[in-house]
Amino acid sequence: MHPESNAGPPVTLPELRELKRRGDRIVVVTAYDASFAAAADAAGIDVVLVGDSLGMVVQGHASTLPVTVDQMVYHTAAAARGVHRALLIADMPFLSARDASTALATARRLMGEGGAAMVKIEGSGWASDVIRALAERDVPVCAHLGLTPQSVHKLGGYRVQGREDAAAAHLRNAAREVQDAGADLLVLECVPSGLAAEITRSLDIPTIGIGAGIDCDGQVLVMYDLIGLTRGRRPRFVKNFLAGHDSIASALASYARAVRAREFPDAEHSY
Ligand code: KIV
Repeated sequence: MHPESNAGPPVTLPELRELKRRGDRIVVVTAYDASFAAAADAAGIDVVLVGDSLGMVVQGHASTLPVTVDQMVYHTAAAARGVHRALLIADMPFLSARDASTALATARRLMGEGGAAMVKIEGSGWASDVIRALAERDVPVCAHLGLTPQSVHKLGGYRVQGREDAAAAHLRNAAREVQDAGADLLVLECVPSGLAAEITRSLDIPTIGIGAGIDCDGQVLVMYDLIGLTRGRRPRFVKNFLAGHDSIASALASYARAVRAREFPDAEHSY
């Protein structure tokens, strides 16, 4: 965050809650370096997420599992240098939040060295205990449920979660649990639209969808997907916003406009 910036006051957590209360959408995109973070910030994106998806889109791995805390700190600090207004979230990489004391040490590095304003943690159950420990120490936490990529081997692949009744009930309970543990934000990834809508209505904290339909309080896309750099099979929720535009700046502006106008994601990009 750059205090000398004239990009307007930094986005805060109370402001994100207020956007939910008013029914205004929250626009989120990932970035892993200063230039892309600055482009997102300049386009009026509300939240920049330094996702551990960087393991796949920047490093070329098949999953997010190889990403280390050192790498997350490096990329978060780089992105922080590009951000003036947007709230900066950093992912807790695989097993770096496995218990409260490890998670507190990881959060200290991501926020203290990296400059993140919030950390993101995948899962519930044991993760809710960790969220509680972080929240009790005033560490802002974004929870992440549905398709949690760090669990790809347990889940058996990158597939939609919560389709069956029992799985849907589990997700509803998990969402309530992470909110009660003190999470300030919840990412819902690859969840049927109706279920994501129900969860969104039932919570006080904002939900941010990716492959979770139009009724989440906000949307997130991976920057590289947004500009048409998806490698391999393109997930249904991905849309190339650079198509028909001549710059990354206008692709980002088009994404932000489409989210705020509730035009994205449409049925074609939802489950
Ligand atoms: O790592 C990431 O980029 C994420 C988003 C896809 C939500 O977790």
